[in-house]
Amino acid sequence: MDKMPFAEPYKIKVVEQIKQLSREERIAKIKEAKLNLFNLKAEDVYIDLLTDSGTGAMSDNQWSALMKGDESYAGSRSFFQMKDMLVKLLGMPYIIPTHQGRAAENVLFSAMVKKGDIIPGNTHFDTTKGHIEFRNAIAYDCTIEDSFDNESNHQFKGNIDLVKLEEVIKKEGRARIPFVVHTITCNSGGGQPVSMDNIRKVSRLCKKYNIKLIFDVARFAENAYFIKTREEGYEKLTIKEIVSEIFSYADGCTMSAKKDGIVNIGGFIALKDEELYKKCSVYTIMFEGYLTYGGMSGRDMAALAKGIDEATEFDYLHNRIQQVQRLGKRLEEEGIPILKPIGGHAVYVDAMKFFPHIPQDHCPAQTLGVELYIEAGVRGVEIGIVLADRDPVTRENRYPKFDLLRLAIPRRVYTENHMEVVVWGLKQVYKRRESCSGLKITYEAPIMRHFTAEFAPIDNS
Ligand code: F0G
Repeated sequence: MDKMPFAEPYKIKVVEQIKQLSREERIAKIKEAKLNLFNLKAEDVYIDLLTDSGTGAMSDNQWSALMKGDESYAGSRSFFQMKDMLVKLLGMPYIIPTHQGRAAENVLFSAMVKKGDIIPGNTHFDTTKGHIEFRNAIAYDCTIEDSFDNESNHQFKGNIDLVKLEEVIKKEGRARIPFVVHTITCNSGGGQPVSMDNIRKVSRLCKKYNIKLIFDVARFAENAYFIKTREEGYEKLTIKEIVSEIFSYADGCTMSAKKDGIVNIGGFIALKDEELYKKCSVYTIMFEGYLTYGGMSGRDMAALAKGIDEATEFDYLHNRIQQVQRLGKRLEEEGIPILKPIGGHAVYVDAMKFFPHIPQDHCPAQTLGVELYIEAGVRGVEIGIVLADRDPVTRENRYPKFDLLRLAIPRRVYTENHMEVVVWGLKQVYKRRESCSGLKITYEAPIMRHFTAEFAPIDNS
């Protein structure tokens, strides 16, 4: 018997109109934006795959929770709703709300990182790296080699290489390493998951050297889905049971709730250790706000409590991840080179393979992003030489192994028809790829340059 197809586990109650500009209008808009997709007005974008962060659609339950939000400065009921939910799910007793993920990093790293420290991890996210380097410390990449090999079919390319990790601990000494950061799933590495086996072993190694283990858990629910569907022994557990086990191995975490919290703004720190919580409390009050709101409104905390609950249900995750997988498979069918295996929240187009004639110095992924916008009004984001930024010491450009255009899919927002427009757009650019000649940076900020950089076309004539 044919298996019943799996469709969205929701129906749509409210819709938002989006408009398509003409190709000529898009060319004018992107020129005005100095060829930086961040500078575009969102209303000039037809399908926005810039990020899956804060762009998801909330459920009717979340919207009704918003109405019941308690905006009290201290002791808000919404804070306790959020806290109770998180304590039960994560098994960590101390919860600090923050306005988003990088704010959680700012607070926690203020308490834990000092000049000269080394923070090993798996391809740190750019704000994580930014907060480490801003404190004159070093983000040391210990990701497994398979992660950099697109031919490898490793199912958990976000894993940390235990040999690399132990080597750096032995070489630099534990006194210079306040914690290890494990990013779950690994965004900068292609939205790749981390296995439970790896989490367990990294935790064991950290315990052996008495080093804290901190998770960056923006997409922990998606990671749990991959553990359930790919790792032996987890098939029968619920997502919430898997999440519980994941967090049992950590000392604490930073969370951008704009992803797997399915809220438009918000984040938190969760901790096991009271002493560290007290240290963080001081910075929270200084940078974010009082401890029971820390940069969030009561209504946002109420929506987050519901969002996390919904995001840790299998049917929701299955639908979400399958949409991303389907887009990746469709692009592959059309011969568009992508990073594999396909990740959890995004498809990453391999721009150096797409444009073999454009050197990395001429920003192949940024070029592809601009061309895709011109072609179809679709906005992706560059994860390549521009994002990699300059080495903080030598000020030389860093050359990442891949130059990628990330197409991140917001949660519960776009349909399969939208995804087909994305495929069509990339196909059109692919057909005329030889006529594209790359970009040069004409302005850049001293740190995190990708947000505000300006570009000009390379003139090959
Ligand atoms: N960690 C990871 C793994 C992330 O992907 C992000 C954000 C952050 C931390 C920072 O969180 O934005 O709430 O301050 N990623 C977004 C993205 C911006 O587009 O991937 P934030």
